[in-house]
Amino acid sequence: MRVVDLDRDMSDVIPTSLTPDSEYLFARMTEATLDATCASVGRVVLDVASGVGQDSVALARSGARVVGAEPSGRMIAMAEAFGRDARAPGAAAPVWVRGWADALPFADDSFDASFCKGAMDHFDDPEAAIAEMARVTRRDGRVVLAIANFDSLACRMTRAVDELREDWLGWPPLRGRRGYDTPSDHFTRYELDLMREQAARHLEIERVLGISIGWGMPGWATLVGGLPKSLVEAGLRALDALARRYPTLADVIVLVGRPRSTSSTTSR
Ligand SMILES: C[S@@+](CC[C@H](N)C(=O)[O-])C[C@H]1O[C@@H](n2cnc3c(N)ncnc32)[C@H](O)[C@@H]1O
Repeated sequence: MRVVDLDRDMSDVIPTSLTPDSEYLFARMTEATLDATCASVGRVVLDVASGVGQDSVALARSGARVVGAEPSGRMIAMAEAFGRDARAPGAAAPVWVRGWADALPFADDSFDASFCKGAMDHFDDPEAAIAEMARVTRRDGRVVLAIANFDSLACRMTRAVDELREDWLGWPPLRGRRGYDTPSDHFTRYELDLMREQAARHLEIERVLGISIGWGMPGWATLVGGLPKSLVEAGLRALDALARRYPTLADVIVLVGRPRSTSSTTSR
């Protein structure tokens, strides 16, 4: 039996207010992911696990024809409402399709690009999802995968601080859930090597990009929130440039690839 809640709306994990470091991270993650699809007038793009549909709606503004695939009926209903409200004049609204990432309801080579942002760790079979994205994307198209790195520099440093406090000094934990532990609604704890390994079986990896460094470290949001805005922006941009170069340190990893002609689990 599948253990995914088809009525889940995930409003419990959608933050209602953002600190400047979170705002920066989410904006850069979205920008890098959507840019990598090369969406433009006439191109057909698939958003896998489209959630409330904000990325599909943003891409549709470029003139691309966007399809959002999502298994949760409640998320699709929210996307439909959001799509109606946020649609730019003249832009076609995205089409919402109910479907699992590992059994995408589309023919081979249907899309110029497909992307999956912040969702693969929620899938019970994420590698099958990559294979499916490779199958439905044209050979000269792009598959873009964006996911949180649970072995980022911030995760490693936070774990070291916790070990020092709790194991060596015997102090109580700083917080309830630890950012480097896999949340209860995740099936996979992604880091760079695992992402590369799974993707390489189905994609010719073109580039791997790191986004942001430091997110979630103890005291980081407070420090960033207390500094002058211009200094914060310059600092976050500098860390982001470092992340681009060293994705293993980054808070989020964006991987871009072309479908392999012989993917190990697809038939084409
Ligand atoms: C954290 S949300 C991310 C949504 C969106 N991509 C974004 O960036 O805002 C994760 C999404 O994955 C969907 N999901 C969970 N399991 C799935 C599966 N096996 N196939 C496709 N989507 C799935 C959930 O319904 C949810 O909409």
